[in-house]
Order: sequence, then structure tokens, then C-alpha cells
Amino acid sequence: MLWSSIATFAVLTAIVKGQTDGDTSPPHYPSPWARGNAVDWQDAYQKAKAFVSQLTLLEKVNLTTGVGWEGGPCVGNTGTIPRLNFPGLCLQDSPLGVRDTDLNSAFPAGVNVASTWSTRLFKSRGNAMGSEHRDKGVDVQLGPVAGPLGRAPEGGRNWEGFSPDPVLTGVAIAQTIQGIQDAGVVACAKHFIMNEQEHNRESTATDAFAYSSNLDDKTMHELYLWPFADAVRAGVGAIMCSYNQINNSYGSQNSYTLNYLLKEELDFQGFVTSDWWAQHTGVASAFAGLDMTMAGDQNLDSGNTWWGSNLTAAVLNGTIPQWRLDDMAVRIMSAYYKVGRDTINIPTNFNSWTLDTDGYRFPEANEDYEQVNWHVNVQDDHAALIREIGGASTVLLKNTKNALPLNKPKSVAVIGYDAHDNPDGPNSCSDRNCDEGTLAMGWGSGTANFPYLIAPNTALKAQAANDRSKYANVSDNWDYAAVAKAVTGAEVAIVFANADSGEGYITVDGNEGDRNNLTLWGGGDALIAYVASINPNTIVVLHTVGPVIVEAIKQNPNVTAILWAGLPGQESGNAITDVLYGKVNPQAKSVFTWGKAREDWGTDVTYEFPSDPPQLNFVEGVFIDYRHFDAAGIEPSYEFGFGLSYTNYSYSNLQIAKQNPGPYQPTKGFTSAAPTFGKIDYNPADAEFPPGFRAVPQYVYPYISGPVPTGLPQDWPAGATDGSPQPLVGAGGSSGGNRQLYDTMYTVSATVTNTGSVKGTEIAQLYISLGGPTDPKIVLRGFDDLILDPGQSAVFTYDITRRDISNWDTVSQNWVISSYPKTVYVGASSRNLPLSGALT
Ligand SMILES: *[C@@H]1O[C@H](CO)[C@@H](O)[C@H](O)[C@H]1NC(C)=O
Ligand SMILES: *[C@@H]1O[C@H](CO)[C@@H](O)[C@H](O)[C@H]1NC(C)=O
Ligand SMILES: *[C@@H]1O[C@H](CO)[C@@H](O)[C@H](O)[C@H]1NC(C)=O
Ligand SMILES: *[C@@H]1O[C@H](CO)[C@@H](O)[C@H](O)[C@H]1NC(C)=O
Ligand SMILES: *[C@@H]1O[C@H](CO)[C@@H](O)[C@H](O)[C@H]1NC(C)=O
Ligand SMILES: *[C@@H]1O[C@H](CO)[C@@H](O)[C@H](O)[C@H]1NC(C)=O
Ligand SMILES: *[C@@H]1O[C@H](CO)[C@@H](O)[C@H](O)[C@H]1NC(C)=O
Ligand SMILES: *[C@@H]1O[C@H](CO)[C@@H](O)[C@H](O)[C@H]1NC(C)=O
Repeated sequence: MLWSSIATFAVLTAIVKGQTDGDTSPPHYPSPWARGNAVDWQDAYQKAKAFVSQLTLLEKVNLTTGVGWEGGPCVGNTGTIPRLNFPGLCLQDSPLGVRDTDLNSAFPAGVNVASTWSTRLFKSRGNAMGSEHRDKGVDVQLGPVAGPLGRAPEGGRNWEGFSPDPVLTGVAIAQTIQGIQDAGVVACAKHFIMNEQEHNRESTATDAFAYSSNLDDKTMHELYLWPFADAVRAGVGAIMCSYNQINNSYGSQNSYTLNYLLKEELDFQGFVTSDWWAQHTGVASAFAGLDMTMAGDQNLDSGNTWWGSNLTAAVLNGTIPQWRLDDMAVRIMSAYYKVGRDTINIPTNFNSWTLDTDGYRFPEANEDYEQVNWHVNVQDDHAALIREIGGASTVLLKNTKNALPLNKPKSVAVIGYDAHDNPDGPNSCSDRNCDEGTLAMGWGSGTANFPYLIAPNTALKAQAANDRSKYANVSDNWDYAAVAKAVTGAEVAIVFANADSGEGYITVDGNEGDRNNLTLWGGGDALIAYVASINPNTIVVLHTVGPVIVEAIKQNPNVTAILWAGLPGQESGNAITDVLYGKVNPQAKSVFTWGKAREDWGTDVTYEFPSDPPQLNFVEGVFIDYRHFDAAGIEPSYEFGFGLSYTNYSYSNLQIAKQNPGPYQPTKGFTSAAPTFGKIDYNPADAEFPPGFRAVPQYVYPYISGPVPTGLPQDWPAGATDGSPQPLVGAGGSSGGNRQLYDTMYTVSATVTNTGSVKGTEIAQLYISLGGPTDPKIVLRGFDDLILDPGQSAVFTYDITRRDISNWDTVSQNWVISSYPKTVYVGASSRNLPLSGALT
């Protein structure tokens, strides 16, 4: 199909209203109680019910409240239940490996694994990460990420997640969750929701409020909530709510996003934890659906808490009904049992606050010096998987004059600090808060220590020695004399460059988490142009967190190849060598669009807000990334889904078979009344610190001291304490929403053939046009990785679900199939779709 021949939709002004300053969230109460009805939760729910029924008020409160920052070995620790030998829960970063320890693996970032488009690799990586958390004694891994989704390419934490496409992210998050939880660790999908930039994400001394992401209900369902539905459907045990506000209500106390969208519509049965210090109220957040507070202190090191003693008091004085506290505890324990934590007896054997063997058991208080690290090596054989994902996630963007793969070149020059070791070691910058040496992960809490990091220079030098190629390397991006000497006359010059970003609490080179621009760092563009001005066989390798402007590099005839290697983790050098030398045939396809100019995306980070509370209006609706480029008729450098290989593929024989799943039935009926588990002792005297109790300073406890507040003016939302049976919502009723949304409506198949001369893996992609005037031109719905020998064909098949062809209807609050004609496309990228057919 000739893409440019299709009329672009002039719809950007027709987006549904609902992204304006001061939007508010409709109140939604009561907070739905866990039902334990979903098949994969039933057993865990029964066990949780039995466990929670034995607990006292203080013990239940202990489960819900973190002990405060640096109160224990993990980045988050709940209270314990000594009477039942329950050690409490350890929650640990990050989405790419165990943070703040040693002898762990540093996995490729989310954006890399997404670029493989391989459900097998999504799951294997999740499982390997989960095993490492399990073997370090972690209960909850704080990942994976679907928020940020990637609204603006400058967004600092986009790389922790997968892709700005909700379907690719949805598949990746579901498989990752299954992998983690199969290893016996609770996955925590985050950040719920609309945490799309780092600037002003938190209230600080200078900004009283975090930004409010304002967006309409249709965009919420069709874009940002979509992957979270997949996460819930995959059985995720925990969800972390976000720092930002949504329609001017904080993520940790937004009753609409937590009670209605997450717990009612998506029927989430696990627990909601706050992001660290993202809680801003005590009773109100409990009513709005929060189940656990982290790190437990109100603010970093504040020593006081919204819950703990205050939650105990709020139950004792009758403000919070027992059923709401019981529901928090049951949800937490259901997640625990669901992944089999009760069968895994590995106590936490590391300490986030020191790598030394000895340290403080209570690091915040500097009390109880003892052994805190057992240095357990949890890496197993994960290096092989990391190397495989590194190669399979490297996107070949350009390859002219048969530049690649390399075959025993006579001489090789490798240029750029991004090819080299950080001279101070790969972990010398805390939370990777610098851009020195080769880039293999971004910065912030979404990181892990490298056990080692193979720089490209190391692996390429070894390969050159093996091939008897003459080898030269230059690490200094500004030493042009040395660069000229190295690249002049070299058969191939490989230039490495990067662009970094991360979490907002760290600023690197003036970038406060979010990127300030979309160009390369460290003079990368000038360096590439300089090398190419001398050497007509210049190959460019990019380690970037997302898209950078590459049009000039693309157009330079002396740049014969461009590869995006992303953030590949510890095996970086080996992985890129595998691809450059053809030991691995590239399969990756870009999971984002490469625009020619920053303005092309139509979305950007807002760096300065004119008012407080800052209003971040998502005026573009669902039109982010390729949906925007398509609608606005903008030609990118490289489109979403694009990637070359060392072989070629052809597409033929599209078949569409209509299925008959029957009509859609909105869910009806009522829940049962809110259950309570065990009896609560309402005598305040029994909730005080036990006599002789040794209270650690700054530590958060469930005990009260002194009288419980009563008779204060109360202004709680209507229905918040109502434990009577509640109506089920039509779009809900089972994990991830109404189960009929996942019925197959059509089965589509196509033949893919390897027409080249080497074995390869092709990522076949299926897109749908929903046909309406406010719909994107096309949306991704399915994909598969097909391994093909030369000349071999395979059949790509995808089952189109009801959700795949529906739009969110704000009036009926349900998914509806519109009457607009729908078309399915199959091909190699979002702009190379040779096959199409009508969905009748
Ligand atoms: C935000 O407000 C818009 C406009 O009123 C509404 O469509 C949407 O449902 C609200 N979303 C949330 C999460 O409150
Ligand atoms: C609550 O947890 C703390 C440790 O965080 C523990 O010292 C205390 O004994 C626990 N309280 C109860 C009632 O189990
Ligand atoms: C309970 O909450 C109040 C209000 O924020 C706070 O002042 C107090 O310190 C909290 N109590 C404890 C024990 O943290
Ligand atoms: C070449 O690489 C080695 C090993 O990393 C490094 O020590 C050396 O400084 C590099 N050479 C130049 C000229 O940068
Ligand atoms: C973009 O930001 C990077 C990192 O701060 C910087 O090195 C580079 O010079 C900037 N580019 C431009 C064109 O200002
Ligand atoms: C390409 O390389 C040749 C040297 O081989 C040089 O003369 C020419 O100017 C280069 N072109 C560009 C665009 O840098
Ligand atoms: C792939 O197809 C293109 C264009 O048809 C051709 O130029 C190229 O040589 C082919 N590559 C391989 C590896 O077959
Ligand atoms: C009960 O205690 C909580 C926590 O201190 C407080 O927020 C609430 O206002 C109290 N309720 C009454 C009726 O005073």
C-alpha cells in the first residue's frame, strides 16, 4: 500500500473535550473489596482470609504501613508480625534488576526488551529478574512499568517502560509480570497513572503541588489504561500509584482512578501501594483505595506517618470501618500467597544502604550494627539471556553498500566515549547519575549495579584480534587529531554516541530527569560528521534512551550503517559485536518513531508551569507517537515498527476468518457485602506501646500513645464507609475488564517468506483502522516473531479480540464497536503494510 496516497485525517481538533485546567475527578466510593472470585486468585484469597482472620488491629496496620525510609534492608519494608513469625514484606527496585546490591545482573532496560517484539524474551527476562529478587529475599519487585507510557520522547523515565504504543506495552508488561510471578515474587506494575514527565512530578518546597495530568475518559481507556488492563489480566499482585495528580487529585487518593477504574472496572484483586512519599492524606487515601503506604514516613525522614498510629486511631474511633482495613490486609496477603511467597523461605540477605558485610539493622537510626550482607550470587546463567536480548533488541536502521555484517575487515577504528569503559568503573556514579563511558542504563531508582559491564571497545578489540584486523580506538570525543589519525584509511570506522535521561531527583548535565533536547550528548553529532568527512565507511551505533534526531546522519552518504542499541545492560559490548559481525541477524524493530525535528511529535515535556497547581493538559488525546505522525501527515526519519535485517522478507496470502463469539453482555449484578475478618479489639489501651517496648528512633509503628482523637469535624465523601452490596460495572466483572472483551472476533493470517540468503527472525505486525473520524489512521494490535531459514515460509496468525476493534463509549461507560468500516493491515512496519483486507 502506498501510504502517502491515503488521505490524512484532519482530526486533531476534533478530539473529545476534557483536558482543561482545573478538570476534576468524579468521586467514587466505597472502595471495592477484594472478591477472590477470579480463578487465579481464589486459592490465594482463601489463604489470605484465613491468615488475616487471626490478626489483631495492630498487626493488620503493620501490614499496610512501611517502617520509614532506611528503616530496614529494602527500599520499602512493612511492619512485621512477630507473634506469627511473619517477617514483613520487602519491596525492592527496580524494573531491570535488583537495585542497591552486589552479585546481581544488570538486565537490558524495558525499551530494549520491547524492541525484540518477542513474547518469549519478555517472559524469560521477567522470570530471570524475578529469580534474582527471590534469591535476594525480596517479596515485591517494583516493576514493570507502563507509566510513563511515553507521551513525549523527552520524558525522563520512558526507557524504564516499553513503548508509547499501548498494545506492545500491554503484551510486554503482561509477559514480564508472568515471568516475575512464576519465579515466586510479586510484580508491582507502575506508575498508576499519567506519570508522563519528571518536571514538577512532586510537591516540593518551591512548588506546592505536583502537576495534574488532565485528560478525557476516552483517551484514558484507549491509551493509558490499556496496558494496565493487560497487567491486571495477567494477575499482577501489586500496583504502584503515581506522584502526579490526575484531574487535580493525587494518584494516591484519586477515588476515580483507584476505586473505579482499577478496582472496579479492571477488577484488580491485589494491593495498591503508594509511590515513595506520594501519599498526602491518611483517612482520605484509605477511602480512595490505597492499601499500603511507602516508605511509611510522611516525607523522607520526617519520622511521622499518615498511617501506622494514625490508621490505628482512625479505626479505633470509628472513622475507618473494619472492612476497609481488612480489605487492605487481604489484598496484600492475597498477592503474597498468589505467587507462593509462603513456600519460599529466603530471608532478605542484602542491605540497600551498604555493600559492606556489616552495617546497621536500622540504618536510619544507626542502631544495631551487625551482619547485614551475605553477598549471595543470584546471577545464575542470566548473562547469556542478557546478551541474547541485547542482540535481539538492536535495531538496524540503515545499511548501505553492504556495510554490514562485517567480515574480517583489514582495519577497524572505534570512536567515542560511548564505546569505552567509564574510567572510574561502571558503578562509580550513584544511581548512574552521570554520562561517562558507554551507556547501558539510564539514571534514577530504575537501575541496578552492574556486576561488570562489557564495553563495546573491549568486545570489538577482542573480535579484531581474532580476525587479525588492525585496531585503533579513541575515547575522547573532542580529540579530533587522534580521531583523524585513527579513522583515516581504516576499512571501517564505528562511532558510538549516546543520549541519557532518568528520574527527576537527579540532574545530569542540566537535564532534570527529562531530556532538554533530542540531540546526541557529548558532541556526538559533530563527532559523527567529522568521522564521516574522512571515512566513507562510517558505521554509527546509538545508545539512546529513546529517539534522537538522526536525519542528517541518515542522509550522509559516508554513514553506511546506523544501529540503535538502546540500553542493553551488562553484556552491551558482546551484544553489539554479535550484530555487527553477523553472528546475530537483527530482528528488532523500533518501538517509537524517529522524527526529523522535535516539533514533529506534537507533544513535549512542560518544563515551566505558569501556575500552581501546575496543569498538564493532554490535549493531543490518543495521538501520540506514530498516531500523531500519521494524522498530521509528517514523514519521519524512521517509522514506528521499522527495522532492517541481513535478509529480506515478503508478505502474501492474507486470510480473514470471522468468528462468532456471540453478542457482548455488559456485566450485571451486585457484589456481596464487605466482609470482615476476625474481631477488632476497640480498647485504645490495648493499642498503646507495650510496656518496655524498645522503639527505634524515626521508625514508624502502629501503636498509639495517648488518647485517640474523637469528635473532630468530619467531612468524608458520601458512600465511603458503605459496606453494603455494590453494583458491578458493565465493562468490569473479571480481571482486566469484562471477559468478553477478549473474545476472538476474527482470525487473521498471512504468509511471511524469507526471500534472502540468511536465516532471520521477522517481526510481522498487524494494524487496524477503526475507521471513525476521531480514530488514528491505524493502531497496532498484534505481532509475532517468526524464525525463518532462507526460502522458508511461515504463517503469521493473530486473533483479533472485541477490545481490538472497539472504542470506549463515555456515555454507556463501556466498549462499543462502531459502525465505521474497519480494515486490517499486515506487514513489516507501521508504514510498510503490503496486505490489507476489510473486517466485515
Ligand atoms: C477528567 O476529566 C475529564 C473531563 O471532565 C473526564 O472526561 C475524565 O473522565 C476525568 N478523568 C479522571 C481520571 O478523573
Ligand atoms: C509491628 O512491626 C514492628 C516492626 O516493624 C514490630 O517491632 C512490632 O512488634 C509489630 N507489632 C505487632 C503488634 O506485631
Ligand atoms: C498523624 O498525622 C498527623 C497529621 O499529619 C501528624 O501530625 C502526626 O505526626 C501523625 N502521627 C504520627 C504518629 O506519625
Ligand atoms: C583505547 O581503549 C583502551 C581500553 O579501554 C583505553 O585505555 C585507551 O585509552 C583507548 N585509547 C584511546 C586513544 O582513547
Ligand atoms: C542536548 O543536551 C545534551 C546533554 O545535556 C548536550 O550535550 C547537548 O549539547 C545538547 N544539544 C544541543 C543542541 O544543545
Ligand atoms: C565522504 O568521504 C570522502 C572521503 O572518502 C570525503 O571526500 C567526502 O567529503 C565525505 N562526504 C561527506 C558528506 O562527509
Ligand atoms: C533486500 O531487498 C533489497 C531491495 O529489494 C535489495 O536491495 C537487497 O539487496 C536485498 N537484501 C538481501 C540481504 O537480500
Ligand atoms: C479519628 O482519628 C483519625 C486519625 O487521627 C482522625 O483523622 C479522625 O479525624 C478521627 N475521627 C474523629 C471522629 O475525630
